[in-house]
Amino acid sequence: MTQRNRLLMCPPHHFTVRYEINPWMNVQRKPDAVAAHDQWQQLVANLEPIADIVLCEPALDAPDIVFTANAGFVFDGRVVVSRFRHPERQTEEPHFADWFEDAGFALVDWPEDVRFEGAGDCLVDRGERRLWLGHGLRSDPRAGAALEAAFDVPVHTLTLVDPRYYHLDTCFCPLADGYTLFYPAAFSAESQMLIRSLIPASKRIEVSDSDAQAFACNAVGLGEHVFMNRSSKALRSTLGKLGFKVLESPVTEFLRAGGAVKCLSLNLDDPIV
Ligand code: ARG
Repeated sequence: MTQRNRLLMCPPHHFTVRYEINPWMNVQRKPDAVAAHDQWQQLVANLEPIADIVLCEPALDAPDIVFTANAGFVFDGRVVVSRFRHPERQTEEPHFADWFEDAGFALVDWPEDVRFEGAGDCLVDRGERRLWLGHGLRSDPRAGAALEAAFDVPVHTLTLVDPRYYHLDTCFCPLADGYTLFYPAAFSAESQMLIRSLIPASKRIEVSDSDAQAFACNAVGLGEHVFMNRSSKALRSTLGKLGFKVLESPVTEFLRAGGAVKCLSLNLDDPIV
């Protein structure tokens, strides 16, 4: 049995699309507030049997604060609070910093000019003691050295090349026992090679274009349970054969802002091997 993890989430009271900072966002196609609220509540209800949901306060001036994966990167009780690339999201930084401090996390010193979007771009491997960092669209590649220095853990840096997959957690997802979902076309050729050289073929799960577009890689893995917006039958069956249970929790209103299940939560107790 895996230990229960705490997931940080933020109610979508002020969630909307008011600016466009990724290709999914269109201010003319705003999410429906009631539907978004219902989907978010349903996600909480789906996750609650497996994890402890911890809430932070929404903020009027920060519609994307609902994407708590971007609050920061938590590793072993310490946190690097995000330094967002876009001014539109920089207003979230003090809210998250306050939340982490109040919750008793030690804040890691971080070089001021190094952009870093937290667990959106930095993921903990579950097969080996190492981190994966995505850069190219949001986080600065120099975040790799800063993370290695802060946590004394190897960091492998991957280059993102498709603006639709602007955060690593939109196209790459470490699961239990080192299994990893990923969408190859989101990465540079060198990064695809790096992934294939470091993760054995038996542990790699390549996701199709249509699953990637439905944010299948933006999944929350909690032991054998894998929560995602939507899965094709093929992906469900591949994961099923490996011992995983896929649970769909549609978050289509949040896809309008370019985020799904994983973006809507931050694992505060991500298992470290
Ligand atoms: N609209 C948000 C942005 O572009 C979505 C963030 C999604 N979060 C994530 N972890 N991928 O920043």
